Amino acid sequence: MRVVVTGGAGFIGSNLVHELKNRGFEILVIDNLSNGNPENLPENVEMVKMDIRDRGLIDVFKDFKPHVVFHLAAHIDVRKSLENPVYDFDVNVNGTINIIKGMIASGAEKIIYSSTGGALYGDRTGSTEEIIPEPISPYGASKLAGEFYIKIFSLWKGFRYTILRYANVYGPRQSSSGEAGVVAIFMENLLNGRVPVLYGYGKMIRDYVYVRDVVSANVLSMDRGDGETLNIGTGIETSVSELYELVQRITGIYIQPELKEARPGELKVSTLNSDRAREKLGWQPEYSLEKGLKETWEWFRENR
Ligand SMILES: NC(=O)c1ccc[n+]([C@@H]2O[C@H](COP(=O)([O-])OP(=O)(O)OC[C@H]3O[C@@H](n4cnc5c(N)ncnc54)[C@H](O)[C@@H]3O)[C@@H](O)[C@H]2O)c1
Repeated sequence: MRVVVTGGAGFIGSNLVHELKNRGFEILVIDNLSNGNPENLPENVEMVKMDIRDRGLIDVFKDFKPHVVFHLAAHIDVRKSLENPVYDFDVNVNGTINIIKGMIASGAEKIIYSSTGGALYGDRTGSTEEIIPEPISPYGASKLAGEFYIKIFSLWKGFRYTILRYANVYGPRQSSSGEAGVVAIFMENLLNGRVPVLYGYGKMIRDYVYVRDVVSANVLSMDRGDGETLNIGTGIETSVSELYELVQRITGIYIQPELKEARPGELKVSTLNSDRAREKLGWQPEYSLEKGLKETWEWFRENR
């Protein structure tokens, strides 16, 4: 079976590519390397360096004829989406429409779309998919628009889809630039003897889901969850201070953090209810935060 992974050189995408390769799929990665790194990819995986908005993408799809498309390429920086909403819209909406065009032109059967829970539901705990999204950033709005375009064209053109809305994903290969990768930021700070900053005085609550669990939700969605929008998180509330304590214990490096007030627009709390993914995909998180952090630390110690 042939699969396309857009954004496959990035954090989640590359972890997915490693798993798909182990499972013997024929893979084509499409990535413009704006935030990805080809070194993230396993050997002998084909990558086309291309922007998802490029018109040539349609021909790439026609040549490769994918059965399934994992669409992860996106502009993911919330803060930059506020500074340059047009660019964020262009990549996340026009780029997604271009992927849909490629699918239609090549007869692809299914798209699995990486969306976001945190940026859609606002300040809430245990959010379910029934909540009407109220994005508070251009990033949230553009990711939600991407969901709608996929649903609309699925209706008209008949391809299948599953939309996965992730909580805060962490794990090996995550970039420490940008605000999303708090685990990566903490680990790199500790490795380099730098003082980490805990915004919101460390009280902000998040739902940390390990990247391998996110990968397994993607793989399960190849045959299940058609027409579904599913939250992928643990539902467990962890404050940033608790996370930092745990990271210090796992790394064995202790540095007194700097506490600062929350940055404007940051959510106080965000956790997801993933009962529906359990029911529709047979998915549940296999990694406790401690186990996931230990694996992540092993990777960071060896690679960063
Ligand atoms: N990391 C999280 O916690 C999280 C949470 C919710 C949703 N998501 C979603 O998961 C997906 C992957 O996120 P990630 O954390 O791995 O980010 P990432 O930045 O590591 O990966 C995104 C990849 O897309 C590529 N890319 C960006 N713009 C592109 C373009 N115009 N054309 C081609 N390639 C392009 C980048 O080079 C990068 O390799 C995104 O769609 C994101 O919205 C991530």
